[in-house]
Amino acid sequence: MPTPIIIANWKMSLGVSASVKLALSVSHKVIGVKNKEVVLCPSFTSLGRVGEAIAKTSIKLGAQNVFWQEIGAYTGEEAPGTLRELGCQYVIVGHSERRQNIYETDEMVHNKIRVCLQNKLVPIVCVGETYVERQGGYSNDAVFYQLIKALSGLTLSGSRQLIIAYEPVWAIGSGHAEDPIEVGKAFRLIHRTLHDLWPERIIKKHIRIIYGGSVDARNTRRFTQLEFFSGFLVGTSSLKAEEFAGIIKAI
Ligand code: PGA
Repeated sequence: MPTPIIIANWKMSLGVSASVKLALSVSHKVIGVKNKEVVLCPSFTSLGRVGEAIAKTSIKLGAQNVFWQEIGAYTGEEAPGTLRELGCQYVIVGHSERRQNIYETDEMVHNKIRVCLQNKLVPIVCVGETYVERQGGYSNDAVFYQLIKALSGLTLSGSRQLIIAYEPVWAIGSGHAEDPIEVGKAFRLIHRTLHDLWPERIIKKHIRIIYGGSVDARNTRRFTQLEFFSGFLVGTSSLKAEEFAGIIKAI
């Protein structure tokens, strides 16, 4: 397995002080953890203070979004360079909550991934089927097209890294993680689709595939043996330091 990565997506759940407090608490609990990458993604307004809080630890900082231009008249957006300045190394792109609530399109997702790669930020690209797509038997098509539209035409070279987070939309925040057998099938589909875009040596060197959707400290081990498994994107369970540390230690 490549170095596993465990990413906390704090969404819009915490204010600045609460984010700093949780960051400090997580950093204490993961002291001594080796050969794992831990990333915290607080809201934009908390990035600076959380970045300071974890500066002397091995924990890394990520943002939950980015704009697809580098500078200009884009009121309310955040530039990739600014995120770098705050210490971010990762950016969540195309989360289903943004696709649904902000109507983020595949084209926007593609442009955001491109700008991340051009600015030494690692995009965490979220893909996954909705409940309706699953019921209709279109899960594979949904994931395949999201990937093709997001990733076609991008160059992976040098130190560029990409993370694909498979997150079935209906599993997010539901308390019901997807069956590991189904996750395994989705991972294989993702890997096959990546093969349509890049040769194996590029995939191996530059891409990791992770799972997200109601991961907790108890169900973690059900996923870790899956082929292509490289980590988790964690929402609800990342809001409690003990629970999040439990996930990290279980890998
Ligand atoms: P969840 O969220 O762990 O609460 O399901 C995952 C996510 O939205 O990335």
